[in-house]
Amino acid sequence: MNDLSDHAAARPNNLDAFWMPYTANRSFKSTPRLLARAEGMYYYTQDNHEIVDGTAGLWCCNAGHGRREIVEAIQKQAAIMDFAPTFQMGHPIAFQAAAKVAAMTPAGLDKVFFTNSGSEAADTALKIALAYHRARGESQRVRLIGRERGYHGVGFGGMSVGGIGTNRKQFGAMLPYVDHLPHTHSLERAFTRGQPAQGVELADKLLDLIMLHGGETIAAVMVEPVSGSTGVLVPPVGYLQRLRDICDAHGILLIYDEVITGFGRLGTNFGAERLGVTPDLMTMAKGITNAAVPMGAVACHEKIYDAIVNGAPAGIELFHGYTYSGHPLAAAACIATLDLYDREELPARAMSMEPVFEDAAHAMKGLPNVIDVRNIGLVAGIELQPRPGKPTDRAVRVFQRCFDNGVLTRTTGDIIALSPPLIVENKHIDRIFSVLSDAIRAEAA
Ligand SMILES: Cc1ncc(COP(=O)(O)O)c(C=O)c1O
Repeated sequence: MNDLSDHAAARPNNLDAFWMPYTANRSFKSTPRLLARAEGMYYYTQDNHEIVDGTAGLWCCNAGHGRREIVEAIQKQAAIMDFAPTFQMGHPIAFQAAAKVAAMTPAGLDKVFFTNSGSEAADTALKIALAYHRARGESQRVRLIGRERGYHGVGFGGMSVGGIGTNRKQFGAMLPYVDHLPHTHSLERAFTRGQPAQGVELADKLLDLIMLHGGETIAAVMVEPVSGSTGVLVPPVGYLQRLRDICDAHGILLIYDEVITGFGRLGTNFGAERLGVTPDLMTMAKGITNAAVPMGAVACHEKIYDAIVNGAPAGIELFHGYTYSGHPLAAAACIATLDLYDREELPARAMSMEPVFEDAAHAMKGLPNVIDVRNIGLVAGIELQPRPGKPTDRAVRVFQRCFDNGVLTRTTGDIIALSPPLIVENKHIDRIFSVLSDAIRAEAA
C-alpha cells in the first residue's frame, strides 16, 4: 500500500472538530458517510463500497475523477513553483489559463478575472458591474436584481442577490438596493422535457422593477441560465432573450452565473451557447479545474474592461482581488482540464448522451409521489411530493437509500438532482435510475 492509499484508508477517530458546511452536523456525525477515494465514474467508501457518482461530486467533476492529465499537471506545477502573487506581478500559467478560458467563452467575453470559488466569482461580478457604471459616470446605478430561487453562493453579494430564504434568514440585513424577479418554475408545466414553451412573460417582471426603482438606478440583473441548486429550473423558451432585450433597452448589465451550467454541462461550453443568449459578464467555477483545485472566474465583456481599466488614470484600476487569484496550481489544473474537455469533446458528448439521460429521467414519471421531472443537458431534477408536515424527509431518505445501494444523488428540498460526470455511459445511467426508482418506491408511504 502506498502513502496515498494509506491516507485514504485512515479512519478518523474524532469527527468533532470539522464544522461541516451545509450539513446537518449532529445527524451526520451520528451516522457518517465517508468517501475515501474516487476514480472515473465512481467513489469508494473506506470499506471499498463502490458508489456511482450521479452528481459529479457537487456539479463539478465534469471529466470524472482522478484524471491522470490533471493530477500530473498539478504535481508538476507544485514542484516548479508552488505560489507567486498576482498583485503587481504575474506568472506565465495564470495568463495561459485566462487565455484558454477566454477561448471557450462566447465572443466578446474575453477578459478573465480569477477567484477561488463560485461565491467569490459572484461577488466579483457584482462589484465589477458597479465599478463599470461608476467608471462611465453613472454612479447612481447601485441596484442589483436577482431572482427568487437563485443561488449565487454565500458571500454577502451572492447571498443578497440570491433568492433562497433559508440561506438569508440567519444573517441579518443583506446588501441594500437589491430586488428580485420571480422564479420561473411552475408545476403546471410538470414533466416538460427541456425548456418549457410557456412562461416567457415572467421576464417582463423586470419592467415592473424598472418602473418601481427607475431603470437608471439598476446596475445589473444576475441569473443562472438554469437554476441548479434549487432544483433544476429550466428557463422558458424566449425568457433569457426577453431579459437581454430589457437590459439593453435600459443600460443594465446582464450577468449569468454559469458555475453549474459552464464547461459542457448543458451540452455546450456554456449555458449561454445552448440557450442562445449572451450576457455581459459570466461567473464560473467548479468544472473550470474539474474541481481538482479550487478556482473560480468571471469572464467580462471587452467593453467592461475598457471602461474600468483603459478609462482609468494611471495606477490600480480595480481595488479587488484575492491572494490566490490565478494560483499556479489552480491555473495548471485549469489548463489541463480545458485541454481534456477539448480532446475528449466532453460538451458534445454531454449533448449526445442527453436523449438517453432524458428518457431515463422521465421514466420516473408514474412512480409514487413523483410530481415533476425536468431536465436539460446532463442535469435532471425529480421532484417528490413532500411528506405532510415533514418537508425534505422523503427526499433525504431516498438519498440515503441510494447511497447505501451505491449511487450518489443530491437533494434540495424534496427534489432529487442528478448531474453525472460528462463521461457517463449507458450502464451508469441504467444503474443510477434503477437504484433511484427502487428508493422512491421504498419511500412510497
Ligand atoms: C450557480 C452557483 N453559483 C455559485 C455557487 C457557489 O460556488 P462555491 O460553492 O464554489 O462558492 C454555486 C455552488 O453550487 C452555484 O451553483
